[in-house]
Amino acid sequence: MKPNVMEFPLVIPNSLKKTPIIIVLLGSITLVLLTIIPICYPLLGYPLYLLRNFSKAPPSHSTTYDAVVKDDESIYEEPQDCDIFTGEWMPNPEAPYYTNTTCWAIHEHQNCMKYGRPDSELMKWRWKPEGCNLPIFNPHQFLEIVRGKSMTFVGDSVGRNQMQSLICLLSRVEYPIDVSLTKDEHFKRFQYPSYNFTMATFWSPHLVKTEEADSNGPTHTGLFNLYLDEVSEEWSSQIEGFDYVIINAGHWFFRPSIYYENRKITGCRFCLLENVTDLPMYYGYRRAFRTAFRAINSLKNYKGITILRTLAPSHFEGGAWNDGGNCLRTGPFRSNETRLEGTDFELYMTQVEEFRAAQKEGKKRGLRYRLLDTTQAMLLRPDGHPSRYGHLPNANVTLYNDCVHWCLPGPIDTWSDFLLEMLKMEGIRSYEEKLYATDRKMRFR
Ligand SMILES: *[C@@H]1O[C@H](CO)[C@@H](O)[C@H](O)[C@H]1NC(C)=O
Ligand SMILES: *[C@@H]1O[C@H](CO)[C@@H](O)[C@H](O)[C@H]1NC(C)=O
Ligand SMILES: *[C@@H]1O[C@H](CO)[C@@H](O)[C@H](O)[C@H]1NC(C)=O
Ligand SMILES: *[C@@H]1O[C@H](CO)[C@@H](O)[C@H](O)[C@H]1NC(C)=O
Ligand SMILES: *[C@@H]1O[C@H](CO)[C@@H](O)[C@H](O)[C@H]1NC(C)=O
Ligand SMILES: *[C@@H]1O[C@H](CO)[C@@H](O)[C@H](O)[C@H]1NC(C)=O
Repeated sequence: MKPNVMEFPLVIPNSLKKTPIIIVLLGSITLVLLTIIPICYPLLGYPLYLLRNFSKAPPSHSTTYDAVVKDDESIYEEPQDCDIFTGEWMPNPEAPYYTNTTCWAIHEHQNCMKYGRPDSELMKWRWKPEGCNLPIFNPHQFLEIVRGKSMTFVGDSVGRNQMQSLICLLSRVEYPIDVSLTKDEHFKRFQYPSYNFTMATFWSPHLVKTEEADSNGPTHTGLFNLYLDEVSEEWSSQIEGFDYVIINAGHWFFRPSIYYENRKITGCRFCLLENVTDLPMYYGYRRAFRTAFRAINSLKNYKGITILRTLAPSHFEGGAWNDGGNCLRTGPFRSNETRLEGTDFELYMTQVEEFRAAQKEGKKRGLRYRLLDTTQAMLLRPDGHPSRYGHLPNANVTLYNDCVHWCLPGPIDTWSDFLLEMLKMEGIRSYEEKLYATDRKMRFR
């Protein structure tokens, strides 16, 4: 299979040249983050047997409790001092927790050690949030929490990359069996027999209905018709029974596309057609997320938690993906050494805005939305990509230097640390939300 993700040289509009750094950005959406990432708080509301066995690394700080008044629906207490998604990478000599010989789930193009990557440095880091600790993934604990549940990844090959990392991390406890309903590699389904846990992927890099109008197109990477107001039913008709839906989209929006709304052309992204208006890619990106979230919010029987996994920036340096760009760094950045800017910044903001709107809508019918905000952590890992070690040296592949996907083992394993922490907190959050709801009912009776 050829690597699925490509990027294009971009003309960045002047309005974006002065982009604030991610810290400012995080500050400006603190309120959202506070509602999304309550962390490091006492573990009430969750079955204690789980916590007793597994909580190894207690928070390193004393948690403070301030009533956070955001809107009239959420005045229950939340700690203000730890956002697990803001921090630094720290050396971790104990990693990795699997190898290409212990795990069969590593995708060929992300098996960097097999293709001669000379250093294993990239595996030897862990994420340290500012103000608390993020425990290393505990596969037993994860499987206990998801016992009898189901989780799906909807989106592109970076979502698949995440799922394969999770399978490898879980492989110390159990391997899943392949129970896919089709032979199509884009739609896989796995079952963990001892835990009755189901994991599935639905391929939908644009989230909306798509056709390939031309397999070549202006940049030889295809030209796509995107029906921005029509969700792709390949996933939306399949997710109703899932407990966790982890959704992502990004890199495919860089490709030339023609945007359709109401079945009429409303513009395009780098299609080079004379009579069609060229629109910024965020136009299509925003509408695609809006359509996807609306579809989720209108599923009658869906009760799952929708998790947006935010953009994981690519790291081409010295040129674009098709123009000699490569990622040759051998260690992480510190957070003061780089910042999210340009297109990545715009895309990140766009998806978070659409997420917030969907979260508000979803709340009206009791649906939960959470943010798996991997953007800052991954921004700091230019060293974690396959580069030219995702294939044989003489291979004829479209993306020769892959600075988009992530080597396994590698920094993407941290996404499972985040995910587990979120699942642990989920028990507490829903308990508190229920308490609060009860309290409100009593007060307003
Ligand atoms: C927790 O530990 C107890 C005894 O140490 C054990 O019986 C139980 O199975 C453990 N729970 C899990 C979820 O592993
Ligand atoms: C695993 O990586 C080693 C190099 O560290 C390589 O020699 C071997 O072929 C790889 N094995 C598999 C199954 O990918
Ligand atoms: C497995 O989990 C599903 C829900 O995902 C549930 O409907 C089913 O009854 C469970 N099966 C067993 C054997 O527990
Ligand atoms: C643009 O022009 C092409 C050929 O000139 C035509 O096929 C197409 O329908 C036109 N598109 C619009 C939106 O008018
Ligand atoms: C970043 O922070 C580190 C540690 O706080 C400091 O040593 C380093 O000089 C800083 N680098 C830059 C580019 O500011
Ligand atoms: C590489 O593959 C593409 C199609 O995938 C083909 O058009 C091209 O000729 C190939 N190049 C070489 C050098 O084999």
